Amino acid sequence: MTPENTDTDVLVIGAGGAGMRGAIAAAQAGRRVTVVCKSLLGKAHTVMAEGGAAAALANVAGLDSWEAHFADTMKGGKLINNWRMAELHAKESPERILELERWGAVFDRTEDGLIHQRPFGAHTYPRLAHIGDRTGLELIRSLQDALVHTPGVEVHMEVTVVRLLLAAGRVVGALAYARADGRQIVYSARAVLLATGGAGRIYRVTSNSWECTGDGTMLAYEAGARLRDCEMVQFHPTGMVWPPGVRGILVTEGVRGEGGVLRNKDGERFMERYDHERMELSSRDVVARAINSEVAAGRGSPHGGAFLDITHRSPDFIKRKLPSMYEQFLKLAKVDITKEPMEVAPTIHYYMGGVDVEAETGATTVPGLYAAGEVASGLHGANRLGGNSLSDLLVFGKRAGDAAAEFAGRQGKPRRIDKAQVEAATEFLMAPLTRPHGESPYKLQSELQEVCTQHAPIIRDEPSLREGLEKVLALKERAAEMGTGGATTRAFNPGWHSALDLHSMLINAEALFRSAIERKESRGAHARSDFPKLDPKWAQLNLMVQKGKNGEMTVTATENQPIPYELTEVITQSFQKYTPEEHE
Ligand code: FUM
Repeated sequence: MTPENTDTDVLVIGAGGAGMRGAIAAAQAGRRVTVVCKSLLGKAHTVMAEGGAAAALANVAGLDSWEAHFADTMKGGKLINNWRMAELHAKESPERILELERWGAVFDRTEDGLIHQRPFGAHTYPRLAHIGDRTGLELIRSLQDALVHTPGVEVHMEVTVVRLLLAAGRVVGALAYARADGRQIVYSARAVLLATGGAGRIYRVTSNSWECTGDGTMLAYEAGARLRDCEMVQFHPTGMVWPPGVRGILVTEGVRGEGGVLRNKDGERFMERYDHERMELSSRDVVARAINSEVAAGRGSPHGGAFLDITHRSPDFIKRKLPSMYEQFLKLAKVDITKEPMEVAPTIHYYMGGVDVEAETGATTVPGLYAAGEVASGLHGANRLGGNSLSDLLVFGKRAGDAAAEFAGRQGKPRRIDKAQVEAATEFLMAPLTRPHGESPYKLQSELQEVCTQHAPIIRDEPSLREGLEKVLALKERAAEMGTGGATTRAFNPGWHSALDLHSMLINAEALFRSAIERKESRGAHARSDFPKLDPKWAQLNLMVQKGKNGEMTVTATENQPIPYELTEVITQSFQKYTPEEHE
């Protein structure tokens, strides 16, 4: 079948918050923009950031400032963040939130009519602008409304990109296929913006939806871009645990922000032992490890977690502030959270690692290729603070959209798409259909999820990480012979889609294991039982993953940019105000 050809100025891959904000920016700069998304417009993992968007608006706490937000983000990330991204994010988040409000987002209000802000883990001040516990959803709704009213934007839904196309070292397009009928589409573009989110589906228990298979990381890696900090994967402390069918679904940190307390099976408020100052509002890495430790010590809840209790708040308050949680537990677990505690356990939620980008522009190391949102790495360092992702995707979605538009504007006629590359990509795309009865992609995906769950858990060690890597490499070999689970049709063939998704998942998993083996210390989300402490030497280093000359995956420790003196002072002063135990 001859592929369809489509020409655009800026191709945006992914239509979550970062993709939509980037597309709006690029179109407002006068470019023709095509947005492709694997799912339907308006359905993105962004909705899983429920509790709010962090921005130092200082509406609830007058003392809040960009400096405080910057310091919290750097401390939360254990100082291996891209400091410039953290600075831009802290300075620009308020304007992006106010813009979203102008675009129609209906935020909760303070008594005097300002955007309300709730407390969240490791934020010094109540900082999360929110809409009950449906903030991500409202953000997507508002952006979608703005997007469809922005001239110059076309949206192609249910389309998956399988390869970026290059000419003279620069990205000039992509090969994709339509999920419904298997049509191939060649996009030629003057700039490409990746906004595909993370790869949470490589784990068995995750808050991530089916789209989150790390496609953008794979596309960038295959195109020669550098990935960064791939060992840093966030376990959100509170996912549902029971009944089994709902395991992993997010229980917003907003519950703890509104006063929810964690208890073990003995009724003890155990966070006292792990962070007696911040308690339940400690950073996510600390709270997730605390629940893990309670379970390991035999003090867990019946299904291997902890109890999260908000029953001391009035039913009215709970239903107003946490309407989704109220409904979610009532409908899915038959638990009335106004009367009973919730049972919760850590769930994979977010990738701090991803494509290495320039702070100001989101430019990757491959000309013409930009990345923003969860697929990009740097802002969050070793651990993301809750709420920082919604503001991240607004700030850096806009920046990357502006920069991609500017780059596209500087290109002349579109580069000729290299036929040989299209053919090679097509061969890769069609391969599973040529051997439908090869290994089942469902089985391989399931095995991969088991490997990541077993060998890259909350607390890791070298022998187990090495075993995990060996297993991933063995799965990679088997995947080369994988089929579709039986069906040969291009139309509505989920086995084919799963086989292609698995390719991305395997690259993400390999990068995770290789990087986790290298970082011989514990920092943020990367906790090693064989190296249980922070090592100051590693504070200077980020791990970069890249495709080697012979197609092998390489990992290199790279010195990070020194933080300028005045920003070091900002962080130091905030450490003096409060020092978490683990830094003592
Ligand atoms: O818990 C939550 O509402 C998630 C927020 C986030 O990931 O930023």
